[in-house]
Amino acid sequence: MEFDFNCLSYQERLSLLLRTIYEKAGFRPYHMGRFEEYGLYQENRRFLTSDQILTFTDLDGRLLALKPDVTLSIAKNAAVEDGKCGRFYYHENVYRPSRSDSMFREIRQMGVECIGAVDGGAAAETAALAVRTLAAAERPWVLEVGHMGYAAGLFDAAGVPEDLRGQFLSLIRDKNAHELRAAAKAADVEADALLDLLDLNGPWRSVLDRAEGLARNDAMRTAAAELREICAALDRETDAGRAGLADSVGLPDSAGEPQAEPRTAGELRLDLSLVNDMEYYNGVVLQGFLKGLPRPVLRGGQYDPLAARFRPGARAIGFALYLDELDRLDEADSAAGGSLTADGAANADSAANADGIPPMVSVALPKGRLGDKVYNLLAGAGYGCAEDYHDSRKLVVENPDAGIRYFLVKPSDVAIYVEHGAADVGIVGKDILEESAPDVYELLDTGLGKCRVCVAGPVDFQDHPQRPLRVATKFVNIAKRHFASIGREIDIIHLNGSIELAPLLGLSDVIVDIVETGTTLKENHLRVIEEFMPVSARFIANRSSMQFKRTAIETLVEKLRAATEAS
Ligand code: PRP
Repeated sequence: MEFDFNCLSYQERLSLLLRTIYEKAGFRPYHMGRFEEYGLYQENRRFLTSDQILTFTDLDGRLLALKPDVTLSIAKNAAVEDGKCGRFYYHENVYRPSRSDSMFREIRQMGVECIGAVDGGAAAETAALAVRTLAAAERPWVLEVGHMGYAAGLFDAAGVPEDLRGQFLSLIRDKNAHELRAAAKAADVEADALLDLLDLNGPWRSVLDRAEGLARNDAMRTAAAELREICAALDRETDAGRAGLADSVGLPDSAGEPQAEPRTAGELRLDLSLVNDMEYYNGVVLQGFLKGLPRPVLRGGQYDPLAARFRPGARAIGFALYLDELDRLDEADSAAGGSLTADGAANADSAANADGIPPMVSVALPKGRLGDKVYNLLAGAGYGCAEDYHDSRKLVVENPDAGIRYFLVKPSDVAIYVEHGAADVGIVGKDILEESAPDVYELLDTGLGKCRVCVAGPVDFQDHPQRPLRVATKFVNIAKRHFASIGREIDIIHLNGSIELAPLLGLSDVIVDIVETGTTLKENHLRVIEEFMPVSARFIANRSSMQFKRTAIETLVEKLRAATEAS
């Protein structure tokens, strides 16, 4: 009986195709059980994405864990001869807490790892497989390539203190130029060199030429040289796909004929602000996107420090494809035919489609005064809509000629729409960003909607340090972090609004809330006890939208920047 490949789902077909591609490239399957000794994770916590791990006691009393990660197990257990480079691929489930609903999730990953004597050739080969992996998904793709060694070298050259490096990395990763400048100034570190990193982003040859010119020490020069080797190899891979040079992979297509390896057109970008955890990655870093999906679907890089923990002197590079993310492609495809997300753009970062129509950029606009103010500024810059959203209960207004669509959303929901890709960009208060820490780019401080987060209490408030302070707030995380930083024990009472009522009714001792004019506090006989966080409205963007609608979003940010500066 012949096997009918058409009965496979898209993910199953893709997994089979990738196995064939990896096997043909000389990679061997690595299988592992669901469980690992918990001790492995306890000793290597710094290499994990989360501290939370599902554990259980086995019948013999050993503490085991449902594995949260595959790479650690391969780095520890894979059989690699001394002086050789082991090439492995895997298709496994891992168990991690989800950020959005605080529940553990089973996550399907497919990936490759090179471990041991990894030279430039093996690293380029792995990165080339990342291109082929994305191209096999048959959607426009973008692979971003960065290098941790370049940022680390720059930190040394610019004198960034060790204890501030994590904070600086996360600002660079979020493309948050305004806070990076302020943080550099506060630490007496030269800001311009760090800000240059944010501009080292685009087609690899031109970016690398500039990066080499800006290199100030051997670490930066070595990183640039490694990137040149890898990008040249990736280019050959991308060109081979474009020129139709892909080999047959042996799997039959729907007509039963052997299928050529799918090589959908995509874009290779060098981005030296693509930086991740410095404890984990020490060299090249990779991040892959597929059009229609809001988050990166492929992540990886060079992780010698972890490999060397189990094999002194070993080096390692690998990547994982997050297969569950692909489940959303069917929805994205049907949505692309619908009215809300259709933009007609076929390639990565289309400035306009074939008919000269710009891609639609969707904006999550906070309902209320702040949203109105931002809308008026954007309307003045040519992004207005014929329909006035105040005249109806409509939640969507658009101007297709200007390539803009506004969604009117609750201010506290803006970041959720943007992080999940329901909107490309949004305007949101820094208080909400600090509270929910969404994984988005923060591209501009509009300077609008200025206020501050404060601790406030009754006019005659007296603290009693011998008992926990009862704090009512809608900003639970901000409040916890603030009181932890001053070592004050608290009990949190989570409210959703009218926070000022809590101390009046004896529900709490104090509140943590935003204060703008101070009128609400005054009229409720409360006073500011401590001000600790300035707030203003920020322009945020979805990480994937930034890949596929870059020109349109950057133009929008620049126009909003000019309009806020002029207002
Ligand atoms: C915010 C905040 C304060 C008030 C402060 O409330 O929670 O109550 O504004 O502004 P002021 O200092 O100018 O008086 P919001 O209007 O967002 O309503 P909420 O009570 O539902 O949070």
